[in-house]
Amino acid sequence: MSDKGREEWSSMLGFILASIGSAVGIGNVWRFPYIVGANGGGAFLVPYLISVFLFGLPLMVLEFAIGRSTGSSVASAFQSLRQRFFAVGLAIVVIVCLILSYYLVITSWVLAYALFFALNRPVDFGAFTGSYLPLAFFILSGLAVFATVRSGVREGIERVARYLIPALVVILLFLVVFALTEPGALEGVRFYLLPDYSRLADPGVWTAAFGQAFFSLSVGMGVMLTYGSYLKRGGLFRSASIIAVADMAIAILAGLMIFPLVFTAGVDPAAGVNLAFVTLPAVFMGMQSGMVLGALFFFMLFAAALTSAVSMLEVPVATLMDSYGYPRRRATLLIFVAVMFLGLPSALSYTALRFEIFGAPFLDLADYTFGTIGLIAAGLVLSVIGGWFMERSRICAEIGGCGWQQRIYMVLIRYCVPAILVITLAATLLQAAL
Ligand code: PHE
Repeated sequence: MSDKGREEWSSMLGFILASIGSAVGIGNVWRFPYIVGANGGGAFLVPYLISVFLFGLPLMVLEFAIGRSTGSSVASAFQSLRQRFFAVGLAIVVIVCLILSYYLVITSWVLAYALFFALNRPVDFGAFTGSYLPLAFFILSGLAVFATVRSGVREGIERVARYLIPALVVILLFLVVFALTEPGALEGVRFYLLPDYSRLADPGVWTAAFGQAFFSLSVGMGVMLTYGSYLKRGGLFRSASIIAVADMAIAILAGLMIFPLVFTAGVDPAAGVNLAFVTLPAVFMGMQSGMVLGALFFFMLFAAALTSAVSMLEVPVATLMDSYGYPRRRATLLIFVAVMFLGLPSALSYTALRFEIFGAPFLDLADYTFGTIGLIAAGLVLSVIGGWFMERSRICAEIGGCGWQQRIYMVLIRYCVPAILVITLAATLLQAAL
């Protein structure tokens, strides 16, 4: 396949930073900590480690391999494996757009909070979402993502990650040290990490770990596939391991700052949206120099969310470029406008308009249908098409030969990953039905 003139990362480091940017997102900073807290504390790390290294990592390597070998993004990569898979690839692209549409809403809340704290304004979730300000911030954060992707792989995506990821790590480390030295911090750490191994008998804990691992690593949606298509050479296992370890380390560290702060303030470690947008802001506002800490925290969260949203936007943009011959700028503009419209119901769901379906805010529903069910289904399709329809020799060529390690890898990718995804999908649907 000729891919002359295809954009490329400037270096392996650039590629790894951009991929870490994609993986490290809102999922790490608040979803991971509360899922750990709700699923057996430190014991949850057992299924989580297994999910990341046995299933998530192989799928990431497969995505990189497909992308690099075909030199194209998900729809045209599928098409080059079998003509009829093109439509399947397009379906995955649509799912990514739908996930992006609500992910951007949360990103925009984070941006708003960062500004409120920086401007020393008190924040109140109800008052904020009850106004029309969220809409303005939704457009603003959409524009930031748009501008980044429009500038291209190297000048946009890679450059933004090169600045934001190191900044994120520095801020996070500072906040962790600060939180751990507060009086009473140990109680928070205990709540967070004290293992309750009896919970491991609960299958729900395992499916929670699988779902969280795939979401957090950004695998299963063609994002890593697209990023891999801009990579010319270099070991895929090594890069994927670095990305997975960084993603996990940042998630664990995030919990090490959040729970000590919450416990120091003596408030209930609530889960979900409340933790990041109600509980933590209240904790910050009650602290000396809390406004600065809050601004730092939300800026860090915004950096994480922005680089993830960028990776999602790149998927449909690359599709328009690869399959329909659009120039990057026009493709980005078109998708940006489409995603803004798609995101409107989510953006309005917590405002005074209260856009709800069956009594649930549209955003929560979108997170469940697209971000949970859609993501698992897409991952399943991706692993089956990649594992079974791409020739073995072609996969081997990307992952460094056909030795015994690669044979184990093929078993994982052909049998274990699809099996786990089918089980997770069934269990998730069953839970919803009960
Ligand atoms: N991994 C990102 C996070 O943890 C979310 C994401 C999912 C990004 C899928 C891209 C693709 O928030």
